[in-house]
Amino acid sequence: MKNSRLPPFTLPLLALPVAAGCTGEAPERPVPVADMQELMVSVMEPAAEAYWDGVGEVLTEEGVHQFRPLTEEDWTSLRNAAFVLAESGNLMMMDGRARDRGDWMAHSRTMVEAGRLALDAVDRRNPDAVFDAGAEVYYACRDCHARYAAETLRPSDPHSAPGPEEAPDPGAPEADATDGGDGR
Ligand code: HEC
Repeated sequence: MKNSRLPPFTLPLLALPVAAGCTGEAPERPVPVADMQELMVSVMEPAAEAYWDGVGEVLTEEGVHQFRPLTEEDWTSLRNAAFVLAESGNLMMMDGRARDRGDWMAHSRTMVEAGRLALDAVDRRNPDAVFDAGAEVYYACRDCHARYAAETLRPSDPHSAPGPEEAPDPGAPEADATDGGDGR
């Protein structure tokens, strides 16, 4: 059998329309307000936390307590968070934010797709799918950080592998005393 792999990721085409758009007067175009750190801390992280907090389990004295969305409001908050996550991927592709036209765009696109998956899980009212989509969201964060923000490998979240000893997490926002649910 022939091993006919797909050619390596091709991206040069993406760059063309951008270059072509640079002539003449500046058209109305989006202008970033948050810098990258602010976008992460004020937009992405809260949305991710809201989504990750939707489905899971905590250890209590009575044993493992599973939590999941119960009310219509719970589902709506998850849905809102999923939209923020998906659209954040688009925000990261804006001129002024995009670090390059290659890997950065691919990671941002992955973020959009993970957000879409998160949304789909909510629309199916499927807690297991919400949990799984939460993992995909986490991978999207982690993989971009591995490439572009090595000091921020792990956003704080329940999907990160607990590891034998708690690794230092310089990327986690300092004020994370809100849940205290898992006591780690
Ligand atoms: C397309 C790339 C990309 C994706 C996807 C991404 N990040 Fe980031 N993130 C970055 C970069 C770059 C930084 C470093 C920002 C800086 O300080 O310049 C960062 C930094 C952070 C920080 C640290 C901010 C600080 O205080 O220094 C947090 C928290 C964070 N990201 C959370 C997330 C979460 C949560 C997700 C997923 C839901 C996510 N990020 C997805 C690129 C990304």
